[in-house]
Amino acid sequence: MKANITEIMDSMGKASAVAQELHTIITNAERLRTSEGQRVYVLTDFESNQVVGLLKVGHKKLFIFDDKGTQHEMHCPCILDFYVHESRQRQGYGKHLFEFMLHVEAVPVQHFAIDRPSDKLLFFLKKHYGLSKIIRQVNNFVVFDSFFEQRTGT
Ligand code: ACO
Repeated sequence: MKANITEIMDSMGKASAVAQELHTIITNAERLRTSEGQRVYVLTDFESNQVVGLLKVGHKKLFIFDDKGTQHEMHCPCILDFYVHESRQRQGYGKHLFEFMLHVEAVPVQHFAIDRPSDKLLFFLKKHYGLSKIIRQVNNFVVFDSFFEQRTGT
């Protein structure tokens, strides 16, 4: 991999923002340096020497409503940014990267809060993990109905 990690974070973060039509870039090297507790997983194809995808996760203190409208203050694992290069989408790379992240983080998928999920990500979560019943939050995060199940600690 010739490009250094700063270049990879900056270019993939920018591409992710463009793909999501965001007004601001949410992942770049500078932000990562100044944000505590965020981790980025990067999928690379060493044959073509290309970076294929990026997945940023981290814990945030959030107020989460359950399906009865009760608010819970929680320190949640969050999906913050997820992007697979346009030329590689819908070929299983996203699932591969996501599975690796779940394995390393050792957090069940339903325990993540998701920051402003795109329709593509909602379809992805429904297809691969059967997550479909959304509880939308006022802070633009989304959780699923099983978010509160079998949770220890927060
Ligand atoms: N339209 C509808 N569903 C899609 C699309 C699409 N264009 N692309 C992916 N999906 C969903 C579908 O469920 C698809 O299954 P299908 O092809 O049988 O319909 C499934 O994802 C494919 O799974 P993978 O191939 O493992 O996923 P992929 O490599 O495409 O990665 C990702 C998924 C990251 C959402 C990718 O499509 C992407 O980068 N999209 C653009 C950026 C984006 O929307 N990122 C999420 C923003 S929200 C956030 O980051 C918190």
